[in-house]
Amino acid sequence: MKDVFFDHIVHGGDYNPEQWIRTPEIWDEDMRLMKLAHINSATVGIFSWAMIEPEEGVYNFEWLDTMLDKLHANGIDVILATPSGARPNWLAAKYPEVLRVDENGIRNDFGVRHNHCLTSPLYRKKVREINRVIALRYKDHPAVKMWHISNEYSGECHCELCQQAFVEWLKKEYNNDLDELNLQWWNHFWSHTVTDWSQIRSPKYRGEVCSSPLRLAWRRFVSDSHISFYENEIAPLRELTPEIPITTNFMNMYDGIDYQKFASHLDLISWDNYPAWDHGENALVAQNTAFVHDVFRSMKNGQPFFMMESTPSLVNWHDVNKLPASGMQQLSAIQAIAHGADSVQYFQWRKSRGSHEKYHGAVVDHCGHEHTRVFRDVTATGLAIEKLSAVVGGRTDSKAAIVYDWENDWAIKEFCGFNNKNRDYLKECRKWYAPLRKKGIAVDVIPMDADFSKYDLVIAPFLYMLKDGTDKRIEKYVADGGTFVATYLTGIVNKNDLCYLGGWPANDLKKVFGIWNEETDSLPQGMKNKATFNGKMYDVDFVCDLIHANTATVLGTYKSDFYADRPAVTVNDFGMGKAYYVAFRNDGELCSDFCDYIVGELGLKADAPEIEHGAQTEIRKRGNCIFVMNFADNETTVTLGKVYTTVLSNERIAGTVKLPVRGYLVLTD
Ligand code: GLA
Ligand code: ZN
Repeated sequence: MKDVFFDHIVHGGDYNPEQWIRTPEIWDEDMRLMKLAHINSATVGIFSWAMIEPEEGVYNFEWLDTMLDKLHANGIDVILATPSGARPNWLAAKYPEVLRVDENGIRNDFGVRHNHCLTSPLYRKKVREINRVIALRYKDHPAVKMWHISNEYSGECHCELCQQAFVEWLKKEYNNDLDELNLQWWNHFWSHTVTDWSQIRSPKYRGEVCSSPLRLAWRRFVSDSHISFYENEIAPLRELTPEIPITTNFMNMYDGIDYQKFASHLDLISWDNYPAWDHGENALVAQNTAFVHDVFRSMKNGQPFFMMESTPSLVNWHDVNKLPASGMQQLSAIQAIAHGADSVQYFQWRKSRGSHEKYHGAVVDHCGHEHTRVFRDVTATGLAIEKLSAVVGGRTDSKAAIVYDWENDWAIKEFCGFNNKNRDYLKECRKWYAPLRKKGIAVDVIPMDADFSKYDLVIAPFLYMLKDGTDKRIEKYVADGGTFVATYLTGIVNKNDLCYLGGWPANDLKKVFGIWNEETDSLPQGMKNKATFNGKMYDVDFVCDLIHANTATVLGTYKSDFYADRPAVTVNDFGMGKAYYVAFRNDGELCSDFCDYIVGELGLKADAPEIEHGAQTEIRKRGNCIFVMNFADNETTVTLGKVYTTVLSNERIAGTVKLPVRGYLVLTD
């Protein structure tokens, strides 16, 4: 299957016509309004199960037939959803096993959305059946261009079926070897030896809460259950519609599913992007959002992704839901495209009249017409992105990567010791990402098992856990000429949270970094140490590794406490490359200076070195287009060191150019 599916930027979003089934005249009005707003796609059927199958085995497709035909007649593509994200009332009432059980063994009542057991053979069968019926009906419908599977998979179930499935999963994971499991989980501690597989239960407050390897295994199991649930869902679609690409919408950096593992099962990555624009400093929100875009773009080797949801105005689930100013939605859309999105999609097209999401932003408000600020903004975005077809399929060539790894995140969240507060792995990775991004350098964000060889620089903050073989891969990368930066508490445990013996970082990484980490100090909140790097002094908090430089060169030392003057930043020449170790956490200033230093050392190039810009202007190159985006709260200027063509207005420009608040440019040579 190809990996770019449209020749234009998809502009659309969730459309829930079943909510308006009593007023079909609204459907016709929707068609008129969609065309007016330059919408070219609608995602239909996400929560339609009860409407499609009102009684078991009784199907009602008339409304959906009408809808798909109408959309097609109006030139609007359909992304068709499978409805497993919200099962109908009748199904839960008749087959209670489909409902989730909480960690205390209590089964949920019907309600909300993801409230289904991930294991239940019955629910899986029901999902396969409804998906087959839908696929059979629409497999040749000319409007249907993509499958949207379920909706934001999430959560977990502790029912007896899931308990049994967990044990089966463990048997596979540990080759049926209980001794090995006891060793890996260090179960002779506290007399926790497992003597029969059936003794293993899911982790819970009123049960086993202290075994980090059990908790990690459970997280992996739950994540794999989502993936196998998905595989079960898509089986009839792969069979009946092998040409139609499949995606499921990921929920930001949700930690309940290893999205980096899930990615290979999708034809296209898509994610739902809800930044809190205009609630504080937009430049910071932009930086955090950029990181997430780069995470998703990196999941399938740079393949463009979809921004499957975003709000055209506000959401209803922040503590306080401020309206973003006009222009913000468009700038946010442009940022997504700049980072690799081939779509700008909204939740949702028409605002619900009642129930939980009636105050969530939508393109069409309760007033029902087009004479609104939001409608005008969305239309302006539609017009703009129609001119960006040249970007579709465009890639980013990154020479730098940050390692952010879902399983390492889990391991960091689960262990007990050192500093148990504010571990903030994600924040830490963003802290190292930010200075590179501010310099306009393209960065991929990759798991630890990605291929490092295409990067000149790999920064892996807080790489506490190593998956099998990661130490060898880092060693090879550096030996072959790569530059690898690690920080405190690197290479401490294997994937079962079992410590490496023989000194940290694990195994031969001591040779790669030329150091040995003997002890780790933790600083209570508010307590600081200081350390130098290249002669400048930095604040140090959270933890400090007390390392010995064996073959490494010391670039900085601690300034106080009993370990004053001991190494704090080192570099080691190893093979043809270099391995840096930053033994402490800092407030970001060192990350910034360190990145300046290393970018200079490696000669890393910004995406558009001939454009001078301020720190709150983001520059991104994608394909042949350069995106210049102002996230500052004020007008700014950029200086173009050569003549460019503006893609939207087709003008030749150079020199100093003003960018208004929320302004942007898309440039080509
Ligand atoms: C999620 C869901 C949508 C909707 C939005 C509201 O992203 O997928 O169905 O509930 O949140 O922000
Ligand atoms: Zn279950």
